[in-house]
Amino acid sequence: MSTEQDRVLIFDTTLRDGEQSPGATMSHEEKLEIAQLLDEMGVDIIEAGFPIASEGDFEAVKAIAQNARNATICGLARANFADIDRAWEAVKHARSPRIHTFIGTSPLHRDITALDQDGMIERIHATVAHARNLCDNVQWSPMDATRTEHDYLCRVVETAIKAGATTINIPDTVGYTAPRESAELIAMLRNRVPGADSIVFATHCHNDLGMATANALAAVEAGARQVECTINGLGERAGNTALEEVVMALKVRNDIMPYRTGIDSTRIMQISRLVAAVSGFPVQYNKAVVGKNAFAHESGIHQDGMLKNAATFEIMRPEDIGLASTSLVMGKHSGRAALRAKLSELGYELGDNQLKDVFVRFKALADRKKEVYDEDLIALMQESTAGGEDMHLQLRRLRVICGTDGPQEAELTLAVGTEEKSIDATGDGPVDATFNAIRMLYPHAAQLELYQVHAVTEGTAAQATVSVRLALNGRVYTGQSSDTDTVVASAKAYLNALNRLHQSAGRADNSALMQSAG
Ligand code: KIV
Ligand code: ZN
Repeated sequence: MSTEQDRVLIFDTTLRDGEQSPGATMSHEEKLEIAQLLDEMGVDIIEAGFPIASEGDFEAVKAIAQNARNATICGLARANFADIDRAWEAVKHARSPRIHTFIGTSPLHRDITALDQDGMIERIHATVAHARNLCDNVQWSPMDATRTEHDYLCRVVETAIKAGATTINIPDTVGYTAPRESAELIAMLRNRVPGADSIVFATHCHNDLGMATANALAAVEAGARQVECTINGLGERAGNTALEEVVMALKVRNDIMPYRTGIDSTRIMQISRLVAAVSGFPVQYNKAVVGKNAFAHESGIHQDGMLKNAATFEIMRPEDIGLASTSLVMGKHSGRAALRAKLSELGYELGDNQLKDVFVRFKALADRKKEVYDEDLIALMQESTAGGEDMHLQLRRLRVICGTDGPQEAELTLAVGTEEKSIDATGDGPVDATFNAIRMLYPHAAQLELYQVHAVTEGTAAQATVSVRLALNGRVYTGQSSDTDTVVASAKAYLNALNRLHQSAGRADNSALMQSAG
């Protein structure tokens, strides 16, 4: 891929490095949805997963490769032929495939792999050449590059270039470097390594010391032309460089950092919300660019300045990242056209049928809640319906009895296919009692991996959004729902996850669903 001098490629690894953070596992459908949005917003390269890691990873990378319209699709592989072959199998159907292979090159990593310096050079040459025989577009990474001796780093990078690598990524695997050092490392490699001007240098930073974005931008100033990043900075430990921070920094401070990306920044909020919802990792309120408070001005002096001239305290406009500039509050008198316009402002373009369904749910909400805010509508849109009308399990009635004395009780009626079933169950709290009732009416072997509640807006009449993640046979199934009643939202989220499980078990082997259940 050729780059002009000022063009910085955005390599998004939310689905690989981001998904690697403990607890951030995503389902197959969710990965596809995220990849589609990344593709639409102009991400140049999507690292879609680590195909040899599991059958699920392989299938997700393959499906993303088959569906991508613009982005290059990349699969990760360790430095061995089996990993590389598997990565190729997954990405080869992409319009533009890439294999990314890596090995740890620092002294600590050489000890782990029991390879001496020369042995590792041989391995790098053999594996990169193997990848290049399969694919024209090969990225190679010396993992823990920032703690690798400079002379040896030059040798390994030269070897990978000679073996056919087209992108050399320099990872700060443990978030150890600092901006000046990050820049000097790229400059050193560009000056010393023969063939360096024939490849693209990439920077891949982790945020352990809170410097990932600064380190990535410093590397760009020194000549790196690919930034590896994730949405919301998702990633292992303290995460990776945040895509939204790099994109907006280059946009807002283009006067001193004259580089451009191909990202449509107005899609940033949409993808940020989606990744937060499916990963179960909420965005901190004061997170740069996408935090809830990033554009909130509460103090009197700030509000006064903002009213006179928004530029007083705002260095970027909310619209630039896709945040609605108006705050038109919706209510029960709002019509379908107003709802469509509002949703479009929030980044959701709906067909007539989908609008019909959302309008019914909006009216039901507006009946219970006087004012429906943007956040309420986003929650409505994110609610997973797992098949809409065809849902196998549907909540008919739920009544919980709570009190300070004794176990809580749930009286539950569900539609299970064409039958209606009721049961009473107890539990340690109303949600536990409700989930026990669901398990009794619909026995299954899936394990509850995540249960999370967020208040959508403030106040006691606020909606709660509940996320539930179930795991069965190495696959995950998520469900989400919002309601002004937290227990109802919990029940619906659990049922949504079960509906997804039911649908995929129906497609594959129905017995898997019930295996060891009950
Ligand atoms: O942080 C890291 O070193 C990585 C490599 C696999 C590129 O994620
Ligand atoms: Zn990483």
